[in-house]
Amino acid sequence: MTTSAAVAARIEQQPREAAPFVKWAGGKGRLLSQLRPLLPAGIARMRHVEPFVGGGALFFARLPERALLTDINPALVATYAAIRDDVQSVIEGLRALATRHSKESYYQVRERYNQGRRLSTSKRAAMFIYLNKTCFNGLHRVNRKGEFNVPVGSYKDPRILNENGLYAASHALRGAKLECSGFESLLEKAKPGDFVYFDPPYEPVSDTASFTAYARGGFSREDQTRLRDVYRALDRRGCKLMLSNSDVPVIRKLYLDFRIDTVAAPRAINCNAKKRGNVIELVVRNY
Ligand SMILES: C[S@@+](CC[C@H](N)C(=O)[O-])C[C@H]1O[C@@H](n2cnc3c(N)ncnc32)[C@H](O)[C@@H]1O
Repeated sequence: MTTSAAVAARIEQQPREAAPFVKWAGGKGRLLSQLRPLLPAGIARMRHVEPFVGGGALFFARLPERALLTDINPALVATYAAIRDDVQSVIEGLRALATRHSKESYYQVRERYNQGRRLSTSKRAAMFIYLNKTCFNGLHRVNRKGEFNVPVGSYKDPRILNENGLYAASHALRGAKLECSGFESLLEKAKPGDFVYFDPPYEPVSDTASFTAYARGGFSREDQTRLRDVYRALDRRGCKLMLSNSDVPVIRKLYLDFRIDTVAAPRAINCNAKKRGNVIELVVRNY
């Protein structure tokens, strides 16, 4: 068997299960059991469209045959493409990085990643995953020059390489079109009959947080309104739409014309007892 045939066989052998290959802020992993019952009837035949794909928890849980996945983060989208198109090189690059992981090595890799315009796509993807798995809290933050600037995390033994997980992700992505674009590109791309799941940066819950761009994840109140306008346009086009956001009056008002349900998102473990428990989030649907 040639090497590429062996890789194809590894990809094919994976159980039909996949999961996000990065930790991502706002990841929907903990909400999947509540989101699944809210999917539209006949979803198996629909194309799956996610304009804020992030870690892609719902996409990987569903494993649709056809998908359009987009995000505004170019490094994230390039990593998805490398996993779909050349997973073996990504795995080899990541294995090399995992073997020599240390605090010092983290900062060297971060420096090379930020400077290395001539790195191959698969090397960049391996570095992106390595930095995501070993940085502080799996954060993705860049400075004004676009340089990744998150410090190293304090994990004892981080799981950097999950080979089978990457093969499974590669398999899941075979039928996926990937694009780096803002959500408004859906006005050109979405087709009648598509299922579209919107998971934007959430509107902040507290008023004090709401004035800082950082708390908003760079997504302003105007962006929330423009997103609602895209939602309306795709509703008229005949797409099936589901959207997550925080349960705040401004979001309820924007989607007044649509069906709104709530789900209870478990909070991350918190040493402050008052901050334990669930947070209520909205799910807005047009069906
Ligand atoms: C809450 S996260 C999505 C989480 C994802 N559902 C998951 O399970 O991991 C929001 C994503 O929206 C992306 N984003 C922010 N502004 C955007 C915009 N204007 N257009 C498209 N994507 C955007 C961010 O890069 C981020 O990946």
